[in-house]
Amino acid sequence: MSENQYLLEMLDIDKQFPGVKALDHARLQLRPGTVHALMGENGAGKSTLMKCLFGIYTRDGGTVTMNGEPVTFTSPRDALDNGVAMVHQELNQVLRRNVMENVWLGRFPTNRLGLVDSRKMYAETKAVFDRLEIDVDPKQTIGELSVSKRQMVEIGKAVSYNARILVLDEPTSSLTEDEVEHLFRIMKRLTAEGVGIIYISHKMDEILRISDEVTVMRDGKWIATRSAKELTKEEIIRLMVGREMTNQFPPKNNKIGGVLLDVKDFSGRFEPTCHNVTFQLHRGEVLGVAGLVGSRRTELLNSLFGYFTRGGGEMTMEGRPINNVTTAEARKNGFALITEERRATGIFAENTILFNSIIANVDSYGKPLLNGKKMDTDTDWVIDTIRVKTPGKKTHIKSLSGGNQQKVIIGRWLLTQPDVLLLDEPTRGIDVGAKYEIYQLILNLAEQGKGVMMVSSEMPELLGICDRILVMSNGRLAGIVERGKDFGDIPGEQETIMALAAKYV
Ligand SMILES: Nc1ncnc2c1ncn2[C@@H]1O[C@H](COP(=O)(O)OP(=O)(O)OP(=O)(O)O)[C@@H](O)[C@H]1O
Ligand SMILES: [Mg+2]
Repeated sequence: MSENQYLLEMLDIDKQFPGVKALDHARLQLRPGTVHALMGENGAGKSTLMKCLFGIYTRDGGTVTMNGEPVTFTSPRDALDNGVAMVHQELNQVLRRNVMENVWLGRFPTNRLGLVDSRKMYAETKAVFDRLEIDVDPKQTIGELSVSKRQMVEIGKAVSYNARILVLDEPTSSLTEDEVEHLFRIMKRLTAEGVGIIYISHKMDEILRISDEVTVMRDGKWIATRSAKELTKEEIIRLMVGREMTNQFPPKNNKIGGVLLDVKDFSGRFEPTCHNVTFQLHRGEVLGVAGLVGSRRTELLNSLFGYFTRGGGEMTMEGRPINNVTTAEARKNGFALITEERRATGIFAENTILFNSIIANVDSYGKPLLNGKKMDTDTDWVIDTIRVKTPGKKTHIKSLSGGNQQKVIIGRWLLTQPDVLLLDEPTRGIDVGAKYEIYQLILNLAEQGKGVMMVSSEMPELLGICDRILVMSNGRLAGIVERGKDFGDIPGEQETIMALAAKYV
């Protein structure tokens, strides 16, 4: 018998959850020394398939072989001991502990007395980080690090196991552009050593750049495996959604009205923050916020919402001075903010989808008795309009796929019918089909005369749905570009925006 050409082969994998067939004869064949992208819409079964490999879930059926040998890992520990490491979509870190303790948790190096050998732990962490050029102090408390740094720590940790198979589940969702390049260098080095990498991401350009092969899943099923060279973005989308998607963006019919929000000389209080930002948001307008990572776009939104303390400046809403000193006040003034870290900060994990949907809007359900029927219909609205893939509204939110959890949080804030909707990276981690629905919801709000402000790192989406784009550079407003004048009808817009983004760097 000829030797098996695959490092890992998963065939006919089945997994049933209550009410959901998460995997239905799923398949993945990974060759050594390659990057294999695993793609599919939110809830397609990507993370579940990987958790079945990694011993987190027990598969109901199917076979897994490594180098032709059948394997079944009963726990992550077991998988790690056998050369399989995984970086999860959710960061499971002990925030109070320092970096090296997180890296070595469960396998602390010990000295002759059996005590944890901190010096050794430090040296080994440092060695791994140095090899990968990860610039993080092993002794720093992990909760003090940015999410992107925490993610790099996780990647370092996975590599520290010297695994032959490395699974990366949406590793770049919160990385800066430089960090993504960095990760890709690490991946290249590992594949050169023969490691096989399974790479899950919704970012089409990254996939086509970094991967050798692509497997697409839909509804828990294997749909296709192709060489990345033969694939185009359009073809991947077609395989993922099972139909032709000709338009990435819905038609724009919103009409710009009077000034809704007038912001003058606005600054945050504590660095890093934004400085002396002046702009107006109109009724019916979708105002984009562009900038490089670190340009303080998130700080601007959070300060407007009263989540970060304001340092100076004025705000009026249709002529009425407002302060938004607290987020409660901002909400009373008709603001809603959907944060970038919504899954880390916005989920009530132990509660149902219904609870998670209506929680920002409780006041509207009447007192003393809550109107259960309205809560039901509102939750149904969230599930239907944003297409949350779930067996029902009483399902616990933590059993939804990562992308579907995010959709619930977005729905929660849309239910409050805000006058000013602030969105920070609204489509991050969300699949192509659902992105379209979210664009549609944003444009619908604008058509109803609301004002929407949206931070995004995806230039096409800013150009696709915004009326004007504020460009932030190093905490300051570098310029405002306008549809029809600077972009939209006139080509060459990306350069204008990039040049502004670099203005104060
Ligand atoms: N622990 C669980 N209990 C019940 N259902 C689950 C559980 N984990 C996943 N599911 C369901 O299995 C299906 C597949 O989910 P999975 O997390 O694998 O999707 P995914 O492809 O990783 O999506 P995403 O891109 O959103 O991360 C979904 O319908 C999800 O709700
Ligand atoms: Mg997932």
